[in-house]
Amino acid sequence: MLKGLIFDLDGVLTDTARYHLSAWNNLAKELGISLNQDQLDSLRGISRMDSLELILKYGGQENKYSEAEKEKFAAEKNAKFVEQVETITPKDILPGIPQLLKDAKAQNLKMVIASASKNAPKILNRLGIMDEFDGIVDPATLHHGKPDPEIYEKAQELTGFKADEVISFEDAKAGVESIKAAGQFAVGIGDKELLKEADYIVPSTADLKLSEIEKVFEKKQGK
Ligand code: G6P
Ligand code: MG
Repeated sequence: MLKGLIFDLDGVLTDTARYHLSAWNNLAKELGISLNQDQLDSLRGISRMDSLELILKYGGQENKYSEAEKEKFAAEKNAKFVEQVETITPKDILPGIPQLLKDAKAQNLKMVIASASKNAPKILNRLGIMDEFDGIVDPATLHHGKPDPEIYEKAQELTGFKADEVISFEDAKAGVESIKAAGQFAVGIGDKELLKEADYIVPSTADLKLSEIEKVFEKKQGK
């Protein structure tokens, strides 16, 4: 039986994923690295320092900078990202999400956030939906980033339910892989091919309908 929902944040509840990508793209350009769309997409869901390492690798600069320099680059990118976050209002909640949260509340489902972002509380507050959630995984406690299952396992722990009692939502390939590695039902939002490991895929949040997702979920559980 479905008891809880677990949500990624950036690209699922709000479109902050594009702010992350544009801030990384700017930093990459400053470092003389030009990223193609696939490389940019591969950064979705990836932690701050892991994203920077990937970008340096794409540019063939993985051994060029000291740890202190890398920290400085990451802080620079974050400052740009936070500037964008300060402009967020409740209007930036993605279409389909308010109804989904409402339907979940009506069913008394527990809801938890599984975002790798240290800015997640700030973003949820700006969206005005912080109180909708029963918990947020603290990314500072994680040892491994997505696609490792750790973050979705921790989120599930926060719900207090079993893996087959929750549905998790992601827009990133690494995120869907993390959900599946945790043994949970994955809803992928975005490109069908990229997110093909998910149990249920929709092109956009506007297409999310809890009752429809639940039908597929129940079928998979054989109930
Ligand atoms: C999320 C985003 C990533 C971002 C990561 C860390 O997973 O999808 O793009 O790099 O969080 O975010 P932070 O705000 O802590 O830099
Ligand atoms: Mg995301």
